[in-house]
Amino acid sequence: MEKNFDRIERLRREIHLHNWRYYVLNDPLISDGEYDALMRELIELEKGHPEWVTPDSPTQRIGEELTEGFPPVEHKVPMLSLDNTYNADELREFDKRVRKGLGKVNPEYVVELKIDGVAVSLLYEKGLFVRGATRGDGHRGDDITANLRTIRSIPLKLLTHEPDLMSIEIRGEIYMPKKGLEELNREREKLGKSLFANPRNAAAGSLKHLDPQRVAQRPLDIFIHTVVGLRSKKYKTHYDTLMALKKAGFKIHPNIEVFDSIEKVIRYNDSWAPKRGGLEFGVDGMVVKVNPFDLQKILGSTIKTPRWAISYKFPAEQATTVIREIHLQVGRTGVVTPVANLDPVPLGGTTIQRATLHNEDEIKRKDIRVGDTVLIEKGGEVIPKVVKVILEKRKPRTKPYLFQKKCPVCGRGLVRDEK
Ligand code: IVH
Repeated sequence: MEKNFDRIERLRREIHLHNWRYYVLNDPLISDGEYDALMRELIELEKGHPEWVTPDSPTQRIGEELTEGFPPVEHKVPMLSLDNTYNADELREFDKRVRKGLGKVNPEYVVELKIDGVAVSLLYEKGLFVRGATRGDGHRGDDITANLRTIRSIPLKLLTHEPDLMSIEIRGEIYMPKKGLEELNREREKLGKSLFANPRNAAAGSLKHLDPQRVAQRPLDIFIHTVVGLRSKKYKTHYDTLMALKKAGFKIHPNIEVFDSIEKVIRYNDSWAPKRGGLEFGVDGMVVKVNPFDLQKILGSTIKTPRWAISYKFPAEQATTVIREIHLQVGRTGVVTPVANLDPVPLGGTTIQRATLHNEDEIKRKDIRVGDTVLIEKGGEVIPKVVKVILEKRKPRTKPYLFQKKCPVCGRGLVRDEK
């Protein structure tokens, strides 16, 4: 009997380690087949001893469906949002405000990518993941523990035994990698389901399922970006704490850097703007934070945002191309959206061939015509939009676009929804 118990414990430790290597570090030590064999052995042994099954076992990632909806959760420390800046001067003003707030101290800044996803709170007690919640209105969110447990890069049990970090609240961004989103949208298109417009909607929509089994099938991932109210003699800065959490098994932002001046921060931010399209996840800017916790505390927060952190938004990515054709796309609910087929053009790491034109009024307002050269823009959206027509390049004898009167699928007359 004792032998089985020891074997179960060992298998769990090993599987946790391999999970971490695979899902967090992207650097597996064993093949998928070997991993599956370990998992199968654990499942078999646990079947024989259900009394030994604990919630932190790697077999327990997918739980029961919630029938009553998500229970509410109060955030003891509110989940704030960030003020935005859009250029270097606004960042310099932020630096001035920080210096004014701190007196003579020279602030050290830590800079991270701003991931396009949804914020969640993760609570650990005695090294175990006990509760996960959405931001909600910042004070009250939903308890989505069962759904977050299905995300393999969230450790169910910490890999290290740092006393200061065993009971801790951390926050991070759940996101769906670009590839995963494209694949999911392709599948949804086949099934006639509505498409997710951007990575944030896809992540938020996925976390709302009451059935964890469905969430487990979505390609969700996380980056940790916040540590809440840590009082520790050992971990005194955001950066050091994140590095310790990384060792404990969490996925930390790649490309996190510390700088001793705002000018260096600005240079780092600018170096990322042209590169962001090549990342496998959506990034809409950078986040600049004062690194030492004691300085963060001195600066404090307003009702909505901390005074020790700010976001820096990248300008939207734009390109010009030519509209070859305009066709109507019919959604599952019968909503018709005009879409432009474009000369393929590289933008933000992918080749763009289509842009949404939203609706008839938008086409009229911008006077978009087939054959026009247009400026397109990729915000956080999957399908870019047409910003404007470049009239100087309009060919003679083009005609204003006439919206089709009939549905391309069923042939019946289209109806304008004036809502
Ligand atoms: S720090 C007090 N760091 O952006 C708020 N947020 O616009 C501290 N986000 O609600 C948040 N990447 O959901 C922080 N590296 C990062 C982030 C990040 C994405 C999100 C987060 C936050 C929102 C604010």
